[in-house]
Amino acid sequence: MLTAKQIENFEKNGYLVIKDYINKDQRDALMNRAKELIDDFEPPSSHSVFTTNEQERTSDEYFLSSGDQIRFFFEEKAIDKNGNFTVPKQQSINKIGHAQHALDPVYKQVIKELNFPVIGKQLGIKDPRQLQSMHIFKQPSIGGEVGLHQDSTFLYTTPMSCIGFWVALEDANIENGCLQAITGGHSTPLKKRFKLAADGGTEFEILDDSPWPDQSLDLLEVKAGTLIVLHGQLPHYSAANTSKRSRQAFSLHLVDQNCQYAKDNWLQSSI
Ligand code: FE2
Repeated sequence: MLTAKQIENFEKNGYLVIKDYINKDQRDALMNRAKELIDDFEPPSSHSVFTTNEQERTSDEYFLSSGDQIRFFFEEKAIDKNGNFTVPKQQSINKIGHAQHALDPVYKQVIKELNFPVIGKQLGIKDPRQLQSMHIFKQPSIGGEVGLHQDSTFLYTTPMSCIGFWVALEDANIENGCLQAITGGHSTPLKKRFKLAADGGTEFEILDDSPWPDQSLDLLEVKAGTLIVLHGQLPHYSAANTSKRSRQAFSLHLVDQNCQYAKDNWLQSSI
């Protein structure tokens, strides 16, 4: 359970950092399971690459129908212009998503132990739904940048309710691409929505074209085991990983089932 001070900090800053939230056994369980899943994964002939920097990011069927599946997305730099891998398979994956919280027994067990809905309720979600999970790798040397964004852009409800739970499975710092955030920036209006386009694929709908707050990003350097809770409108970012160490993290997003989930959100799930 959060203290009154922690709730106050979340409301003031738009995020909350809690050390030692996930223990070593739980971290190892998630990282070992991810390794097994990648071992079993047969790369398809067309490679789906995850990036939030493209104006209309890869929105092929494999990505768009991953809301209730466990799927694998490659680092952009893991595949060269001829379609050949530049690194071994285990080092090629950007993330696994987006429904291991519902489909995989190891993830399910650890996530149950982590009790995110209890925190979600303390932060204002009345009826939490565990909607999206991601195992993020930030692979050594090639882990891609994730541009400045607000999570409600991708998981939009009316009224907005998205809260992100990000746990460091490994130490995260400036060298390997830790999270960075505009402290207090969650009062910024939602800039855009990433949604299904009427004629297929996806598009960004601009909601507010004013600039981001004129404020530098704060580095959220954390040790393995730390939980960072992110308000859905908090602008946050992570740089490319140019170090020799990965920066694995697991994230899960909650939305409030009392709020209306947009029918044209990119992520649609039947579970
Ligand atoms: Fe995010």
